[in-house]
Amino acid sequence: MNIIEAIKGRRSVRSFNGVPISETDRAELTKAIKGVTDPFGGKVTIRLKEFDMKDGYKPSTYGMIKGATDFFLLGIWSDEAAALSAGFCFEQVVLKARQLGLGTCWIAATFKGSAFDMGQTWPDGEKLTVICPVGVPAKQSMMEKITRFSLGSKNRKPFDELFFDGDFKTPLSPESRFGLSLQMLRLAPSSTNSQPWRALVEGDTVHFYYKPKSEASVLDCGIGMCHFYESEKFQLRTGRFFKTTDAPLPPDNWKYLYSYRTDR
Ligand SMILES: Cc1cc2nc3c(=O)[nH]c(=O)nc-3n(C[C@H](O)[C@H](O)[C@H](O)COP(=O)(O)O)c2cc1C
Repeated sequence: MNIIEAIKGRRSVRSFNGVPISETDRAELTKAIKGVTDPFGGKVTIRLKEFDMKDGYKPSTYGMIKGATDFFLLGIWSDEAAALSAGFCFEQVVLKARQLGLGTCWIAATFKGSAFDMGQTWPDGEKLTVICPVGVPAKQSMMEKITRFSLGSKNRKPFDELFFDGDFKTPLSPESRFGLSLQMLRLAPSSTNSQPWRALVEGDTVHFYYKPKSEASVLDCGIGMCHFYESEKFQLRTGRFFKTTDAPLPPDNWKYLYSYRTDR
């Protein structure tokens, strides 16, 4: 499964078959964690941990997650760089899981940290902020169906509301130079499906902005930018992320995040 297929086929999975992931998959995911690339330099730690349900130990997720025994735990520093890095790095692991046929679900809001945090120590300043079950998907529970329906999880905002060409009034064509990579960004998961990301294309440069929706909005943007970057790589294009003071001033209530330029 290539990365575009992985992005297109991924959805959040909240019901699992109750069986721990295989040792081969565990090794592949551990390798993926070690191999993540991070252009933003934030402080993030990603761990994969099996919880022994036989001990009667049930990590509580407000009843939302069924049948998972393996979880990723993310320790994240509290600044913008760490949020971007966490989104960008961990989504690489999420897409790898999808390529292995495993389901995942980013969870930032609806977990009781203490159960997952037991016995964990994090590098200075990092705090357990995200957990993510990983395993073989099972038939969706009723709770999962209701959750997906109430979040409108299968819907995304139209492409022409998110991405612009040259100025903030001209919608970008999905067929243009960065079209495919931004189409893949649009499919990214986001907290409560809020899709805060916005982008303006100027020639060989994409300026990324966001419309703040929640505390997780910058994290969401890191996830979207991972989809964008992986799709650029898939098309054998190279480029780099950078911050600039020259990015066009966005409409009220949008915030500038980062820019990306294709290498010549
Ligand atoms: C940062 C982040 C936090 C999330 N937190 C939760 C959560 O606390 N509980 C939950 O059920 N889903 C959570 N989700 C999953 C989103 O609801 C889901 O990605 C969105 O509805 C889109 O659905 P999809 O992932 O199936 O495409 C989170 C997703 C992200 C990216």
